[in-house]
Amino acid sequence: MRRFFVAGNWKMNKTIAEAKALIGALSPELATIDNVDHAVAPSYLALPAVAGLCKGTGIKVGAQNLHWETAGAYTGEVAPPMVAELCDFVIVGHSERRKFFGETDESVNQRLKAALAVGLDVIVCIGETLEENEAGQTEAVVTRQLEVGLAEISETQAAAITIAYEPVWAIGTGRAATPEDANNVHKNVIRPFLREQFGEARAELMRIQYGGSVTPDNAAELFAMSDIDGGLIGGASLKPESFIAIVKAASMVAIVQQESQS
Ligand code: PGA
Repeated sequence: MRRFFVAGNWKMNKTIAEAKALIGALSPELATIDNVDHAVAPSYLALPAVAGLCKGTGIKVGAQNLHWETAGAYTGEVAPPMVAELCDFVIVGHSERRKFFGETDESVNQRLKAALAVGLDVIVCIGETLEENEAGQTEAVVTRQLEVGLAEISETQAAAITIAYEPVWAIGTGRAATPEDANNVHKNVIRPFLREQFGEARAELMRIQYGGSVTPDNAAELFAMSDIDGGLIGGASLKPESFIAIVKAASMVAIVQQESQS
């Protein structure tokens, strides 16, 4: 059985002081939940403080992006060894990076390889836009993003990878995909691709998160689906009570699934 992985993507929110306060509110509650992997991804500036506070709490810490070069003349960028000093994982290919900063499937692949090379776990984000969805291109788009994004990755390296399926039209809109529609993409497009690329055994173990307007109200329904293995949470990760409620929803679903299997 796959273990749920719920990660909060704070995006460009929270000063260092605010980030510390949020971790202060999250950590006592999250410490009581040990059957779900949970994580936060603050801004680079808040990372040192957050990483310090999360040490020993079970909360994993990630960065929201990284460059692929090890060092050099790339003003404003952050290199993989720098991220690896502080973080357990990094997010690559978020749709906001693709939309506002010109990130491509090829650069996602470069970032992924560079992150894996320094021992980071990686959340690789994929997902179609509204126009692509309405034109019936979801499967083609997601498959292309996976083919190029995960090119030249071995089965062993895949152990460090989580896929986040985030339909762009669902991000920050309050309009989440239905559990059935999201699971259809996870189960019938992404998982078969992973099987093909990495083999049956590895594909069964890899987590596929859903992201896009996950809230305490819809989390349990989404996580109850066969191939939704957690969530990448934006807006609802900025308030302690809603992020805690979402992690608790995953924990409850995990308990129910465990009982039904035994
Ligand atoms: P949202 O963002 O939960 O605010 O929709 C999700 C994401 O972009 O990862």
